Amino acid sequence: MRTIEWDESNQILKIIDQRQLPAKFEYIYLDNYKAIAESIRNMAVRGAPVIGVTAAYGMVLAGLHSPAQDPQAFMADLQMAAKELNDARPTAVNLPWALKRMVCVVEGKGLSVSEMKAALLAEAHAMAEEDIRVNKAISKNGAPLIADGDTIIHHCNTGALATVDWGTALGVIRYAFEEGKHIHVLVDETRPRLQGARLTAWELKQMGIPFDIISDNMAGYFLSTGQVQKVFFGADRVTAGGDVANKIGSYMLALAAHDNAVPVYSVFPTSTVDLSLQDGKQIPIEERDQEEVLALSLKGQCVVPEGATARNPAFDVTPARLITGYVTELGVVSQPFSVHYPQLLNGREG
Ligand code: MRU
Repeated sequence: MRTIEWDESNQILKIIDQRQLPAKFEYIYLDNYKAIAESIRNMAVRGAPVIGVTAAYGMVLAGLHSPAQDPQAFMADLQMAAKELNDARPTAVNLPWALKRMVCVVEGKGLSVSEMKAALLAEAHAMAEEDIRVNKAISKNGAPLIADGDTIIHHCNTGALATVDWGTALGVIRYAFEEGKHIHVLVDETRPRLQGARLTAWELKQMGIPFDIISDNMAGYFLSTGQVQKVFFGADRVTAGGDVANKIGSYMLALAAHDNAVPVYSVFPTSTVDLSLQDGKQIPIEERDQEEVLALSLKGQCVVPEGATARNPAFDVTPARLITGYVTELGVVSQPFSVHYPQLLNGREG
């Protein structure tokens, strides 16, 4: 299942509208970079890897619609679009990573405007294909961590929907399942936007992987009663010190797992690593509209009293000390991340 697809004849980006799943499987069609920025902001498309690639196509559209005739004015239009796309969501570093890569492919290369337009499209396509290749490599590397018979808690959605295709943490689970291992997944529902209950459960069902949905506050119970062998989640930004920003609730889950000596694996492409930050406290945490928390109804009735207010940080930071291993396309990295990750980048075993 491809989450986003470029339609060359109409020069538009087609994306699955993830807000509608699992009730409806619908595409939306984006024909300008502002619509792309909005689709990232409103989470029609979400998940760190795929928002990076979606933003890359936003740059393609910004280029295609730029009226600029000379390369300098064209670059100015691109920079303006990059800023707006970058501001759509602040936590996942894949967004600035992808935008920087798109700017680098044309900046200072001495290209004409039409050559720049072609180069942008080629780079976005390359990033989309690379994302799928990388996810499959991640999954192959991570699968040996899963034993036959494991029950795994998974947080948020890290499947095909969170990437161009295949997925990261859920990709590892899928790979191990396809190798013939018996796996049971406890799907954290992932309040407030329910990426687990809506999206991960939907993907697992399609793949035939056995699962049960649990509310986020049940994880400690299952971990403390010996019913879980591993915890897997993704990442939106990983610092040089190995702290991991991921969907809100990951920290509490990792704490409970650590207290019960259950291994915690964070799974991500190396594009999610931000070596410019040492400490997780430096990661910008998105705070979203309180309505996402308050708009909760049971049996058609609004749950919260009228006028109630809420807080809604979308991510939290799990300190490196709570993480057992990091799974990347280059290999599995054990602690200390700050030592073993650079070794892995240099081509040695982490
Ligand atoms: O707010 P979201 O749904 O974009 O958050 C997604 C997550 O936190 C994922 O775990 C992370 O992006 C990794 S997805 C491969």
